[in-house]
Amino acid sequence: MVDQQARTGGDKRPTEIPAIRWEEPPEGPVLVLLDQTRLPAEEVELVCTDAAALVEAIRSLAVRGAPLLGIAGAYGVALAAARGFDVAEAARALEEARPTAVNLSVGVRRARAAHQAELARTGDPTAAAVAALAAARALHQEDAEASARMAAHGLALLDELLSGGGHRILTHCNTGSLVSGGEGTAFAVALAAHRAGRLRRLWVDETRPLLQGARLTAYEAARSGMAYTLLTDNAAGSLFAAGEVDAVLIGADRIAADGSVANKVGSYPLAVLARYHHVPFIVVAPLTTVDPGTPDGASIEIEQRPGFEVTEVAAPQAAGAGGGIPMAPLGTQAYNPAFDVTPPELVTAIVTEEGVVSPVTAEALAELCARAPAG
Ligand code: MRU
Repeated sequence: MVDQQARTGGDKRPTEIPAIRWEEPPEGPVLVLLDQTRLPAEEVELVCTDAAALVEAIRSLAVRGAPLLGIAGAYGVALAAARGFDVAEAARALEEARPTAVNLSVGVRRARAAHQAELARTGDPTAAAVAALAAARALHQEDAEASARMAAHGLALLDELLSGGGHRILTHCNTGSLVSGGEGTAFAVALAAHRAGRLRRLWVDETRPLLQGARLTAYEAARSGMAYTLLTDNAAGSLFAAGEVDAVLIGADRIAADGSVANKVGSYPLAVLARYHHVPFIVVAPLTTVDPGTPDGASIEIEQRPGFEVTEVAAPQAAGAGGGIPMAPLGTQAYNPAFDVTPPELVTAIVTEEGVVSPVTAEALAELCARAPAG
């Protein structure tokens, strides 16, 4: 079941935008999500009392972005366990809610493994539920720490690659606090540059069709006080041609073993533009996004979304076949992949919490993953 409530409370630290939290009111534990489909117009929270409500929130993109999907998936398993639902069934439904971001299954499996291990050890469902929650909380905390470390590595890389005078960074989709236990991935690097006085401008792609850039990244950028400008996705080419972009910083939903990067559709064209214009194309992602089990880009399943997201204009929560304002003749077919894949040869560097891979090769990526503490 899902309930809605207006977000309350002071807003003392504007760059912190908690996207998810676990609460234990007397009626039983709940998972509270900031409904990202309602931003920036309204700050409304969804209160999930079961995994089914969370699955729906994931599908509708109320909760989204790779690292946050992992955290949400882990809490979803904990919620099912704490509420006495079938944990295996909940885990399966959560894992299948969206296919591309590997973090979702990483988070679900981690909490499920903790639950299973404790159940096998004690035979006590309450203790097993506590173990699942502890695993979710640990992942949440680790993601916050990874975020801070990625920001530091990313800023050092920018300073190494670019000359002084202030960096002009182009970004795509949304990669800040709204997708993370901390300040995010690519956006956290831009934020670190801003705080260090070295961000001249953040160029924000609007990110059609669901406008994660316009609705969410611009919201985060405005709250941080950084200089930012919104552009339509197809204006990026002329911006590069005018010499206005020093680097591209994006996140990732899955990085294959060969270094291919799946991210929000529109990332690959930016990589091509960046290569043509000799601009670094930098991917920032935690190691939970690297999937050694996916050998290459062609093996990454790309989520296909409904055509109405393209043929109608509406905030996602209002959209639905027939729910929005038509932008195309009725019955028009739409091609609407949620992600695309950038091959490793177009990626200048992958920044993770354990350090930077550049050039991007399967060997270098595997070596970095081996350094990570087991989760
Ligand atoms: O469809 P979304 O909004 O979940 O897509 C999110 C992205 O593509 C992000 O760029 C990606 O998850 C990286 S977030 C750190």
